[in-house]
Parts: sequence; C-alpha cells; structure tokens
Amino acid sequence: MMENLLPLCYMLAAAGFILAIKWMNSPATARRGVIAGELGMLLAVVGTLLRFEVVDYTWIMIAFFLGSAIGVPLAYLMPMTAVPQRTAISHAFGALASALIGTAEYYRHTPHGFTMLALVLETLLGFLTFTASLMAFGKLQEILPTRPITYKGQNIVNLMLFVTAVGLGIALIFSPETTWLFPIFAGLSLLFGVSLIIPIGGADMPTVIALLNSYAGLSASAMGFALDNKLLIIAGALDGSSGLILAIIMCKAMNRSFANVLFGAFGQVQTSSGKIEARPVRSASPEEAAEMLDAARSVIVIPGYGMAVAQAQHKLRELFDVLTKRGIDVRFAIHPVAGRMPGHMNVLLAEADVPYDKLIEMDEINPEFPMADVALVIGANDVVNPAAKNVKDSPIAGMPILEAYRARTVMVIKRSMSAGFAGIDNELYYMDNTLMLFGDAKVFVGSIVKELNANK
Ligand code: TAP
Repeated sequence: MMENLLPLCYMLAAAGFILAIKWMNSPATARRGVIAGELGMLLAVVGTLLRFEVVDYTWIMIAFFLGSAIGVPLAYLMPMTAVPQRTAISHAFGALASALIGTAEYYRHTPHGFTMLALVLETLLGFLTFTASLMAFGKLQEILPTRPITYKGQNIVNLMLFVTAVGLGIALIFSPETTWLFPIFAGLSLLFGVSLIIPIGGADMPTVIALLNSYAGLSASAMGFALDNKLLIIAGALDGSSGLILAIIMCKAMNRSFANVLFGAFGQVQTSSGKIEARPVRSASPEEAAEMLDAARSVIVIPGYGMAVAQAQHKLRELFDVLTKRGIDVRFAIHPVAGRMPGHMNVLLAEADVPYDKLIEMDEINPEFPMADVALVIGANDVVNPAAKNVKDSPIAGMPILEAYRARTVMVIKRSMSAGFAGIDNELYYMDNTLMLFGDAKVFVGSIVKELNANK
C-alpha cells in the first residue's frame, strides 16, 4: 500500500511544481500557480514522511512549528518592495539545508563513486549559494555597502578560490576517506560565495538572485542523486533551469552578458558617460498635463523604477479610472526590466488592481506608439532612452526600449534631470514633443487626478 502511495504522491507533487511554473507565467493565472506549487510541496512532504518509517515525530513537529512561526508572519508582514531580499533569504536557507544534509551524509556514510560526486556538487553549490545569498540580502537591504567593491586582481583571486575549492572536491571524490579535506573544502566554498558577490553592485542583485536561485536548485538536484530521491531531482532541476532562464531573460532585456553582470562591476557611478549637461527642456504644470490628457484619445503609460520608489501605483489607478470614464483609451507599456526586479511593474500595478489586459508587453505595444496622443512616462528613464538605439558606445547600446519618443506628445514625470540606473543622459527629455513634469510621481499624478476631477 505504502509502496504505491509514495510514487503517486511524488508524481502529483512534480505535476504541481510544473503547473505552478506554467501558471505563474501570466498574472491572470498566477494565484492558481501559487496554490498548485503549495499543494505540490505538501504532497512532497507527506510522501517523504511516508517513505521513511518515522519512529519519533518530535523533531519533525518542532521544525514544522518553528518554520511556520517564522514563515507565516514573514509572508504577511513583508512589504512588496522587499520581495527581492526575501527571495535571497529563502535561497540562503534552502541552500544551507542542502549543504548541511550533504555534510551529514558525508560523515555518516562516506559515500563513494557517483554518489560522492553528487554530494560534492551539492555541498559546493549549497555552501557558496548560502553565503552569496546572504551577501545579496545584505546589499539589497542596504545593511552592506551597495556599491561594487573592487580591487586589483580580484577576478584572479576569485578564480583561484573557486579552482581550489573544486580541486579539493575532486580530491574528495577520489579519496572520500580523507575526511580532514572536507572542512577546508566547505570553508572555501563559503568564502567563494562572499567573494563572488562583493564586486557586484546592489542594483544588479536581482539578476544575481535569479542565478543563485538556479544554483540552489542545482544543489537540491545533486542532493536528489546523493539521496536517491527522484522528486528532489525533478524539483531541483525545475528550480535550476527556471532560475537560469529568468537570469538569461533579464540579461537579454538589459543587453548585458552574464560575464558583465558577474564581473563587470556595473552599477558603479559612471562618471565618464554620466555627464549630464544643462540643456533647456520644456516643463509643464499638473494643470497643463491634465488638459493634455483630457484632450487625448489614446494614452500609453510607461511606468519605471520611480513609480516603485514613489509608490505611485494607487494614484495611477485613480488616473486610469478618471481617464477611462471619459472614454480615453489608457494602456500600460511594460518593459521586461523596468524597475529593479522581474515583474516589478506587473506586481505593483496588480496590487493597485489595474486590469491585466491593460498591461501590454514591449513587443506588442511598440508599434502602437505612433498612434498614441500621449506617452506618459512615470519614473522610467533607461527603458525609454533612445540612446540604446542611436549611440553605439552607450552603456545601454542594443537594449530594446519602449519607443515612447514616437508618440505625438511625451510627458515625463520625474523629480529632476538626474540619470537612472545606467547613469546616462536621456535624449528623450530634450525633444520638441516632450514635456517634463517635475515632481514626485505619487504627488504629481495625484495633482493631475485632482485637476481632472475639478473640471468634470
Ligand atoms: P531608471 O532608469 O533607474 O530610472 C528611474 C527614474 O525614476 C530616475 O531617473 C529617477 O529620476 C526617477 N525617480 C526616482 N524616484 C522618483 C520619484 N519618487 N518620483 C518620480 N520619479 C522618480 O528606471 P527604469 O527606466 O525603470 O529602468 C530600469 C533600469 O534598471 C534599467 O537600466 C535596467 O537594466 C535596470 N535593472 C533592472 C532590473 C529588473 S529585473 N527590472 C534588474 C537590474 C537592473 P529623478 O531622480 O529625477 O526623480
């Protein structure tokens, strides 16, 4: 009976994980995806408890209550804007669990051959992902300095660290009995995790977290081989591949390579190309902006990092309602790397209940800009910067952008002429059809809404 139940539990759990990833692809099915993932995890835990003849449930119950006591409040109290660091912490603990299980297995059984290979991979990735994720958490939470910390020969030192750790791992595979090697191997893996993250700027952390997600998954998958647990292999492989795909999507959307993110020390203040000249721009008041919006038939809103900083999404929803009521077509253009984490704009706009079908992806909305009366840019900068197309040596050269400049009128809400993430000037702001709306995004959008409501 038990023998039949276990594969069934594991198979359904695996199906739950796969469906979770599939459904999380769209905001409309994302909730269903979360539930599928949760059910999958429940079945995985039940299956695993069935697999072993548990003699004493005490420790399992202690872990269950302790984990829930931490996890449930964390989920409820954590603000949306802190999701990247929360994810980093989850990876840190997941990876630590994997590394500690590997360590326990090593000292209990001293496995040989393929199992030892899997165990070495598991512990190497587990330990380095643990410290790397903690560092990423520290940088995102600004407990640690967010700027990239670099020194001469850093890449060589990091490479040596990694090669030595891998070398010790290989030695352990060939002679697992040399137990004194293991703590050094584990220590070097932990140290490599720290040194890997030090040169990376805080703003690049979301991409790094996607990569760490992938490492934690691979570590779990290796653990599956070491423990002969098929579900762990499947779940780890799903985690590993989806993390990698996400990191690739993010790098592509920024037109950067992995090497550039990991070793490029980007996110540093770029003084050479970051020179912003004082050139005249046209600015407008909330009254004028409201008038132009009122006269439009089609408006495309482009939210960016500044909307997240200002938490302007709820005011934006009000603006959407007012304009829609007046028969104006309002859509939101979503750039894949607008903001600072994948899906940043989707999450915030969903929080404000903006209808999903009004959020349009970049490739689909770009041909629509020439037909739009107003492109309303809210705290976005790099993702609408024509330099990506026109300036060959620009740090963002080749990055696909939202073509706001093709709209009849462009209005840009931001506080100053300061640069965005890439640290460069934006030609869009100086164009003849552009109006700068200087102010905090939430306050400015609020003023426009007030103005529109006053002139009903
Ligand atoms: P950015 O280019 O970073 O520009 C954001 C703009 O928002 C700034 O120019 C700033 O101008 C303005 N702003 C800040 N606070 C504001 C407030 N309270 N009210 C109004 N405006 C405010 O943002 P973006 O266009 O969204 O581009 C994202 C960048 O981040 C890209 O370069 C991308 O490659 C990078 N990146 C993205 C991700 C992901 S996954 N999304 C991950 C890593 C890196 P003022 O200071 O003048 O207000």
